[in-house]
Amino acid sequence: MKSVDILVGEHGLIHQALDTLSLAKETLEKGQRPPRAFFEKAVEFSKSFSDRFHHFKEEFLMFGLLSQIKEGRYDGEIAALKYQHERGRKFIDQIEQSIKGYADGDLIATTTLLENLASYISLLKLHIHSEDHIFFQMVKKALSAEEDHALLTQFKNEEKRFGSENFFEKSRELVLEMETSIEQWQQRE
Ligand SMILES: [Fe+2]
Ligand SMILES: [Fe+2]
Repeated sequence: MKSVDILVGEHGLIHQALDTLSLAKETLEKGQRPPRAFFEKAVEFSKSFSDRFHHFKEEFLMFGLLSQIKEGRYDGEIAALKYQHERGRKFIDQIEQSIKGYADGDLIATTTLLENLASYISLLKLHIHSEDHIFFQMVKKALSAEEDHALLTQFKNEEKRFGSENFFEKSRELVLEMETSIEQWQQRE
């Protein structure tokens, strides 16, 4: 297993969450109102899994190692990916701040929720595509077997530092809860 395989596997779960978010976006576009709990779970997943668990590995471990040993050769690509992480955090913050107003039926908060949700989905799809198909392919060629093994070990240590080796499974359950939340709501509508 190579270090990028861990990240590609995590992208699979993020994609699953994005599919559910896309469904919520489409219903909002039709003037329907998915439940507040759905968006609260979505924010929780995005902050804990996508950002703290996944982006941390990329930014602080993989990008950090590349900058250090490849003398700035990948700085342009890394800066773009970090910018996208930062923008994603902003969109999620905006979504979180709009949830209460949305739940109260405020139309401006509903607009804020929808526009940030749409931006977040688009941005993250582009981001994951760029990583899977371009950046990680470069990383595979750039790192020696020893360097990649050291990075993989850092990834594993980071997962332990998270306090739970079952974190991936817990996050998968959270995505299933998001799916159930919106499916049950659709059946009631
Ligand atoms: Fe990333
Ligand atoms: Fe990623």
